[in-house]
Amino acid sequence: MTSGRSAAAAVLLKFALALLVGLIAGAAGMQRYLKQPDRVVERFHRLYHARGAQTFNNTFWLGVPTQKLPLDLWVFQELIFALRPDVIVETGTYHGGSSYFYATLCDLMGHGRIITVDIEDYPNKPKHPRVTFLHGSSTDPRIVEQVRSLIHAGETVMVMLDSDHRGSHVGEELRLYGPLVTPGSYLIVEDTHFNGHPILPKFGPGPWEAAREFVAANPQFQVDRTPEKFLFTFNPSGYLKRTGR
Ligand SMILES: C[S@@+](CC[C@H](N)C(=O)[O-])C[C@H]1O[C@@H](n2cnc3c(N)ncnc32)[C@H](O)[C@@H]1O
Repeated sequence: MTSGRSAAAAVLLKFALALLVGLIAGAAGMQRYLKQPDRVVERFHRLYHARGAQTFNNTFWLGVPTQKLPLDLWVFQELIFALRPDVIVETGTYHGGSSYFYATLCDLMGHGRIITVDIEDYPNKPKHPRVTFLHGSSTDPRIVEQVRSLIHAGETVMVMLDSDHRGSHVGEELRLYGPLVTPGSYLIVEDTHFNGHPILPKFGPGPWEAAREFVAANPQFQVDRTPEKFLFTFNPSGYLKRTGR
């Protein structure tokens, strides 16, 4: 009887020890994992993109689809409020959700207008007195000329590039639209997360590569990483601030 009891106690002790060792190992593993917050962000970023139907293709501003990360929209709001641009130029209108978002902010501030360009003319875009829609390729010289003609001397200009994300196209947009950005304002190169930064590793040169090349050749622009404060952005290293003339 006594030996039966001590055998049971020994089994119980072994079990308790194994549980303790397991708990300690698990906690250590979790600590190691949490010490790499960038990995957590990166994994969440990939998951967010992989679930596009639930996330970025299911995001709306006042009922209008917008292919944006809400954290980025919030940062845009902060930049627009701080800079009070006279004109926001956007390439890549899509259904008009992002330009509608900017127009709503301009309404609240009582200031600013938007020029948005798309090669496709999507139906049912929301009409807004502050928004001018241009139909054509963002790199078509006639479109670029139209955009320029809609900006008056002395106006503060902000530019968002969100059209064809291939590096060659973004590079051309940067060359054409970069000079419109006024000192102190931003040239936002969107979707720099393509080509493994961290999504779509096989995309090939995209916005990230084009932005890097542009900044290297145009020292009046600097990558500003402060707008990445919410840790997760579709535009890593894509917020280019014009610091010089
Ligand atoms: C990512 S979507 C834009 C999303 C939109 N800014 C939003 O946040 O809802 C890209 C858009 O770029 C347009 N696009 C593709 N190539 C273009 C080009 N060469 N010039 C202008 N727009 C282009 C596409 O038709 C598409 O509507």
